[in-house]
Amino acid sequence: MRVGVVGATGVVGLEMLRVLEERAFPVDELRVYASPRSEGRKLPYAGREVTCETLRADGFDGLDLVIVDVDDHIAAEWAPVAAAAGAKVVDNSAAFRLDPDVPLVVTEINPDDLRHMPKGIASCPNCTTAVPVTAIAPLHRAAGLERMVVSTYQSVSGAGQSGLRELDEQWTKGDGRSDVLRRAGAIDGAITPGEVWDRPIAGNVIPQAGSPGELGYTSEDAPREPEDPPRRRVARDRHVCARARVRRSRRVRQPPLRPPDVEGRSGRAASGRARGATRRRR
Ligand SMILES: NC(=O)c1ccc[n+]([C@@H]2O[C@H](COP(=O)([O-])OP(=O)(O)OC[C@H]3O[C@@H](n4cnc5c(N)ncnc54)[C@H](OP(=O)(O)O)[C@@H]3O)[C@@H](O)[C@H]2O)c1
Repeated sequence: MRVGVVGATGVVGLEMLRVLEERAFPVDELRVYASPRSEGRKLPYAGREVTCETLRADGFDGLDLVIVDVDDHIAAEWAPVAAAAGAKVVDNSAAFRLDPDVPLVVTEINPDDLRHMPKGIASCPNCTTAVPVTAIAPLHRAAGLERMVVSTYQSVSGAGQSGLRELDEQWTKGDGRSDVLRRAGAIDGAITPGEVWDRPIAGNVIPQAGSPGELGYTSEDAPREPEDPPRRRVARDRHVCARARVRRSRRVRQPPLRPPDVEGRSGRAASGRARGATRRRR
């Protein structure tokens, strides 16, 4: 298979290359893309090196699969270009997550949705969503999930290479001053803020993940139609997201589930209320 990775030098792109190699994905030809800053940069892959290209209108010709790991506005522009060139496109950004003509897929949950890709593009949920929904989906099928209250404390890696760099720089400046670092967010002037966040991220938890949106919510925490597949089967999904001072982390989710049916007691009444839920029998 001829594969392209867009944003290959980023946090997600580098991980993508690692996973493709680790899983021995059948890659006959690999092409990698990044910004003009990285043109010509060599990236290691499966014992050899691949050279970064910039994005060009004819740059995807001949590829079967293009994996897109760039910011939303770049993905929105270039994923359709790759699809128009004949590739199947998997987009990791938020650009197409709520597009009704783009399947939102977690392969452990709804792989069959990949059979219908009207735009030649499939989308993935955010990393804060994809992992927990693999656990929540079977519970949803069994018991019916009507509402989720979600609080996430996301690591700086979610802000990409620049987020990781900013934490590292502030951490390095405070080296040895653990008394200050532990409380840097609370001590005025202890650490100078960087460019990604207007407060120090070292020693801090900032209630902002994603870009600022409407009504004081960010792109990650707005109450919205859920991006979790199966997409519109859960009525409402409320996220509150914060960026925390760790490099990488998992987060907490609290899905309040209705108690599972007990056959013969409340079974019929409960299944009547559980829209979209199916009960598994063993
Ligand atoms: N980080 C996560 O945990 C995570 C998880 C799931 C999904 N995502 C999503 O995946 C996407 C990438 O995130 P990331 O964390 O990997 O970001 P990142 O570390 O900042 O990497 C961004 C990538 O985009 C490239 N890029 C920037 N401007 C470009 C341009 N004008 N043309 C072509 N390429 C350009 C960068 O290339 P240069 O190196 O040349 O600048 C780099 O390869 C985002 O949409 C993010 O929301 C992130």
